[in-house]
Amino acid sequence: MSIVNAKEIMIPASEQGYSVGAFNITNIIQMGAVVEAAVEKKAPLIIQTSVTPSQFLGRDVLVAVYRTLAEAAPIPICLHLDHCTDLDYAKKCADAGYTNIMIDASKQDFEENIRQTREVADYCHSIGDISVEGELGTVSGVEDQVKVTEDEAALANPEQAIEFVERSGVDIFAPAIGTAHGVYKTANPKIHFDRMEAINQLLNGEKVRVPVVVHGGTGIPEDMVRKLVKVGGAKFNVSTELKYTLIDTTYNYISGNREQYNPGKIDVAVKDATRAVVGKWIDLLGAAGKA
Ligand code: 13P
Repeated sequence: MSIVNAKEIMIPASEQGYSVGAFNITNIIQMGAVVEAAVEKKAPLIIQTSVTPSQFLGRDVLVAVYRTLAEAAPIPICLHLDHCTDLDYAKKCADAGYTNIMIDASKQDFEENIRQTREVADYCHSIGDISVEGELGTVSGVEDQVKVTEDEAALANPEQAIEFVERSGVDIFAPAIGTAHGVYKTANPKIHFDRMEAINQLLNGEKVRVPVVVHGGTGIPEDMVRKLVKVGGAKFNVSTELKYTLIDTTYNYISGNREQYNPGKIDVAVKDATRAVVGKWIDLLGAAGKA
């Protein structure tokens, strides 16, 4: 049985200086590929779905496939709901069997963000061993239904981070530190490592232990990824790169094989390409061999 919540696999990562890869999937082929890659690498894993694929595929279907794959895998695996802004849907996914829920009220003012996050955290803690992720500041870019323009993006304030964590009851924390969802428009994004380090130190001392998440993994230069892990990123979210992999692989396969009508071959190509991308990330995050 390797069904776990996010916090329990992030605490060793935060203590030992590696990061758990958290990969957004939009279909079952990708879910299988992500699990196979993590098993090959002997790495702990977080599978993520945004709200739209969760509604489209069905949360009960996703949880059933997750449980089937995770129960057969010799590694710990969490199923995370990403950037949910709807309190009722977040609770429904917790009821269905997701093991980590992100309630994203980061576009609300500070007090309302705390209130909404607290409501979901209390609910998840009351029904089972489900950890909850909250966000402070706003990560720019587009992730499913959440869109933040560069003008709206605001960094997390370290002092407010402690208050947010204490009053909201979250288990893991996503601070906005200058990373962005989607593809970076510059080769040298302005990431605030010092802020990340300060927040991580405040939240992971003797009294509190709330591991920190990095959003916007796609396109961050490798040396910056390593640095973010070093300053405390214990969960690293990757979404856009897997979407590009899915679409480019499908397009290339179909373009090169116009006479074929065998969907299974497209699935194999997508699975192989996804497994390779996820394996690369697991190595980069230092998580290989940690399960
Ligand atoms: P990217 O799409 O930039 O990889 O970001 C993923 C993410 O942070 C999901 O929450």
